[in-house]
Amino acid sequence: MSAPIHRVCVCGAGTMGAGIAQTLATAGYATMVYDLQPAGLERAAQQIQKQLDIAVEKGKMTAEQAAKSIQRIQFTDDLQICLADLFIEAIVEQLDAKVALFNQLAELNHSESIFATNTSSLSVTKLAERIQNPDRVIGLHFFNPAHLMKLVEVITTPHTNTALFDTAWGFIQSIGKTPVHCQDTPGFIVNRVARPYYLEAMRVVESGKATPEMVDRIMESAGFKLGPFKLTDLIGQDINLAVSRSVYEQLNKPERLQPSPLQEKLVEDGKLGRKTGEGFYRY
Ligand SMILES: NC(=O)c1ccc[n+]([C@@H]2O[C@H](COP(=O)([O-])OP(=O)(O)OC[C@H]3O[C@@H](n4cnc5c(N)ncnc54)[C@H](O)[C@@H]3O)[C@@H](O)[C@H]2O)c1
Repeated sequence: MSAPIHRVCVCGAGTMGAGIAQTLATAGYATMVYDLQPAGLERAAQQIQKQLDIAVEKGKMTAEQAAKSIQRIQFTDDLQICLADLFIEAIVEQLDAKVALFNQLAELNHSESIFATNTSSLSVTKLAERIQNPDRVIGLHFFNPAHLMKLVEVITTPHTNTALFDTAWGFIQSIGKTPVHCQDTPGFIVNRVARPYYLEAMRVVESGKATPEMVDRIMESAGFKLGPFKLTDLIGQDINLAVSRSVYEQLNKPERLQPSPLQEKLVEDGKLGRKTGEGFYRY
């Protein structure tokens, strides 16, 4: 078995990091949240507090449980104090940045610390092979909003041994989520299958045949929980575009998965969705 997990550090305090940290703390784990940007940490703390307050209002937890959950989280912009049995990174969707972070953490931590990536689309194998002990790297892909969505894709590489897999699987169950095993293929399962949902919708709008509001309303009426434009605003247009580009490149650029110029323009303009106050919609 890998070493037991007592202390977890979430790297990246953005949309996903905040939701993952909330989930861990609520499940009783001593949780550290690390981000380069103090403002990002501040936002994450506010976001987590807001979501815990909502949970109390809805009767999903007591005020005391909510208070204890937030107390379990330590926020820091100092990498040197990031010591943990498990790291879950949710930083920018760039391989080099993730490799650099894990290698810095490897210098500071014991050799059995597990490095999990929340990447949506990058190769976990390529990431693992650039870390000192590739057998300590695994993919734990949470979904947005992470404190509510049950599914977690557990992505293994040719270097993943049974002990790490079992530990990661048990850990995901211990935080009340549902693990599913995925091979390390571009976009894994959910992001690969969902890609045409976003891209075709953007193509329809680019062709002038419908507006984002129309497409969303129709898809929601057809039974989808969120239309593709509301959903990409929730995900973050930058993240969704990065995933589209990554899957497109890794699958040898099939025409049907070509990234959308409409979305590229939004990202260029800094209209990233809910997190910046404007994307396809204004918030
Ligand atoms: N947004 C989603 O719906 C979603 C879903 C599943 C997985 N993911 C994946 O999770 C990761 C994060 O996505 P997000 O939407 O939370 O991004 P985000 O832009 O909301 O947040 C990223 C955070 O990481 C911080 N950061 C960037 N580089 C860093 C570094 N080197 N060290 C420490 N902190 C750093 C930024 O300051 C920012 O606070 C990406 O890999 C993404 O593909 C996103």
